[in-house]
Amino acid sequence: MNRLALVTLLLGLCSNAQAQNNIGASQCKSCHEFEYRVWAASPHAKAHVSLSDLQKRDAKCNTCHLMTADENGPEPVGVECERCHGPGRYYHRRYVMRDRELSRFVGLVEQKPEQCLQCHTEGAPSIRPFDFATMWARIDHGREARLKWEKTRAAAALKAKEAAVETEDEP
Ligand code: HEC
Ligand code: HEC
Ligand code: HEC
Ligand code: HEC
Repeated sequence: MNRLALVTLLLGLCSNAQAQNNIGASQCKSCHEFEYRVWAASPHAKAHVSLSDLQKRDAKCNTCHLMTADENGPEPVGVECERCHGPGRYYHRRYVMRDRELSRFVGLVEQKPEQCLQCHTEGAPSIRPFDFATMWARIDHGREARLKWEKTRAAAALKAKEAAVETEDEP
C-alpha cells in the first residue's frame, strides 16, 4: 500500500470512529443542565431545521448546519455540543471530565474563538463579519454564566421554601 492510500485509510477510520463516538446532547444534559438549556434555546440546536430534506443531504449545506454527514445517524441533528467540544464517548465519565489532561487526551477539544470560524465564514449569510465577543454573549454557557444561574436558582428555591413554611404556619 502506498503512503497516500494508507493516510486516506487512516483518515477514513478516524472520521468513522468520530461518528460512532458521538453520544448526543441529551447525554451531556444529565450533568450539564445549565449548558444544555442555553444550547437548546440557541439557533445551533435547530440549525438542521433551516434546511429542506434535500439540503440536509447536500454537502454544500450540511457541513455547517448538521453534525457532519456521517455523524447524523438516522435523525439529522443541528450543531450539537460535540461538534464544538469533540466526540464524548471516552471523556463523558465524571472522573475523566474532572481531569483536564485525561479528558483532552481522549477527545475533549480545547475551545478557541477560531473554532467558530469553521462555520461562521464569509460564505455564511451574515451581514457583519464574525465578532467572537458579541456572538459568544448570545450563547454564553461559560463558568461565570453558570455560577450566576446557580445562584439565582438557589435563591428561588429558598424563597419557595420560605413561602411553604409560611403557609404551614397559617392556622
Ligand atoms: C457524568 C457527568 C458528566 C457527563 C455525562 C458529561 N460531563 Fe462534562 N463535566 C462533568 C464534570 C464533573 C466536569 C468538571 C467540572 C469542574 O471541574 O468544574 C465537566 C467538565 C466539562 C467541560 C469543561 C472541561 C475543561 O476541562 O475545560 C466541558 C467542556 C464539558 N464537561 C463538556 C461535556 C460534554 C460536551 C458532554 C457530553 C458529550 C459532557 N460534558 C458530559 C461531568 C459530566
Ligand atoms: C460555511 C458554513 C455554512 C454553510 C456551508 C451553509 N450555511 Fe447556512 N448558515 C451558516 C451560519 C453560520 C448561519 C448564521 C449566520 C448568522 O446569523 O450569523 C447560517 C444561516 C442560515 C440560514 C438563516 C437561518 C435563520 O433563521 O436566520 C438559512 C436559512 C441557511 N443558513 C440555509 C443554508 C442553506 C440552504 C445552505 C446550503 C445552500 C447553507 N445554509 C450553507 C453557515 C453555513
Ligand atoms: C459546525 C458549525 C458551527 C460552529 C463550529 C459554530 N457555529 Fe454558530 N451557527 C452555525 C449555524 C449553521 C448557525 C445558523 C443556525 C440556523 O439558524 O439555522 C449558527 C448560528 C449562530 C448564532 C445565532 C446567529 C446570530 O447572528 O445571532 C450565534 C450567536 C452563533 N452561531 C455563535 C457561535 C459561536 C460563538 C461559535 C464558536 C464558539 C459558533 N457559533 C460556532 C454553525 C456553527
Ligand atoms: C458552538 C460551539 C459550542 C456548542 C454547540 C457548545 N459549546 Fe460548550 N463551550 C463552547 C465554548 C467556546 C466554551 C468556552 C467558553 C469559555 O472559555 O468561557 C464552552 C464551554 C463549555 C463548558 C465549560 C463551562 C465552564 O464551567 O467552564 C461546558 C461544561 C460546556 N461548554 C458544555 C457544553 C454542552 C453540554 C453543550 C451542549 C448541550 C455545549 N457545551 C455546546 C462552545 C460550544
